Amino acid sequence: MGRLADFSAPIFSMPQTSQRLHHFTESVIRHMTRVANAHGAINLSQGFPDFDPPEQLLQAAEHAARHGPHQYAVTWGAPRFRAALARKQSRFMGLPLDPDNNFVVTCGSTEAMMVALMTACDPGDKVIIFSPFYENYVADTILSGAEPIYVPLRPPDFSFDPAELRRAFAQKPKALILCNPANPSGKVFTRDELLCIAQLAEEHDTFVITDEVYEHIVYAPATHVYFAALPGMFARTISCSSLSKTYSITGWRLGYVIAAPAIIHQARKVHDFLTVGAAAPLQEAAVTALDLPDRYYDELRTIYTAKRTLFLDHLDAAGLTYTRPAGAYYVMVDIREFNRGTDVEFCEWLVREIKVAAVPGSSFFREPVHHLIRLHFAKRTETLHAAGERLRKLRS
Ligand SMILES: Cc1ncc(COP(=O)(O)O)c(C=O)c1O
Repeated sequence: MGRLADFSAPIFSMPQTSQRLHHFTESVIRHMTRVANAHGAINLSQGFPDFDPPEQLLQAAEHAARHGPHQYAVTWGAPRFRAALARKQSRFMGLPLDPDNNFVVTCGSTEAMMVALMTACDPGDKVIIFSPFYENYVADTILSGAEPIYVPLRPPDFSFDPAELRRAFAQKPKALILCNPANPSGKVFTRDELLCIAQLAEEHDTFVITDEVYEHIVYAPATHVYFAALPGMFARTISCSSLSKTYSITGWRLGYVIAAPAIIHQARKVHDFLTVGAAAPLQEAAVTALDLPDRYYDELRTIYTAKRTLFLDHLDAAGLTYTRPAGAYYVMVDIREFNRGTDVEFCEWLVREIKVAAVPGSSFFREPVHHLIRLHFAKRTETLHAAGERLRKLRS
């Protein structure tokens, strides 16, 4: 019997992996989900629901499984999916979008963002990222050969200093990434803030790459303003979003890029060589989601508003200090008073002893911030009650 080679033994020399990969780690968010599963904890780390998508979608998926299509769709998106997406996004964005020239359908907003950055940037370019940020943006920027410039968003309302942003633009960035509504801060950018970004982007001829996966999860009185719909901004905006959060189908991996035809023409190439295309039967089934009436989006907002109230009430009952999100479904909680070390140490203790998984806040900040953790509330009422009860033990 032959013995298995010990591939870790230093006797074998091995080529070096890419230097680019030394500039970021594996996703801390996805890591926390694995840790949560290992400890049997309630997983309030990675943002995905523990409830089913709408019944009509399940039926449409069953139908697609039986009747297809089961082979590759058109790489930039199945025609029926793009037509339905154009109808829905034109309605919400207030723009006359053309299904054949303004869209690339991708594997989630995750791929859409990578496509957008690779479409916009050359090696050595700079990209403005607001901090705190969704952790993918740094990896996406580096993988596209570009270099991040960070601009802080300051609590409690996570606003930016226009002078600081102007100084970042003075470094001639090729693009700015705008996550709106924002993960992890829950910030919803006001029209005035967006107009300030727009003016600078215009002055410095910069792309604005938006990630709007939480476009329909916004709490009154906040409202979502699509950057691409601001006067004169469509030509320089690469809008990315997905169906993951809006229809509770994070596992279907359906997202999209919206942009002017000249940008889409280039973005299609990046997408085609990265993934060929998003799942054909699921695009077919998701037409049902995109054709849902406006009532669906009103109900979604009502459901998430109730979840936010319920969860924040639990945080209040547990005596925790947090910032109230205006959009998305995350809360940043201050852990300083517990004296349990850094946010990473606190999260390890929390998942082990309290059986609730959170994400250490430091994975979202450029600055040395180690006193925040991120929890999410896209969970069933029972799950939120159970998590709330466990969090109350923090003080006992
Ligand atoms: C801001 C943001 N963008 C993108 C994603 C991932 O989206 P998708 O499932 O469409 O790839 C997430 C998931 O949590 C997110 O919070």
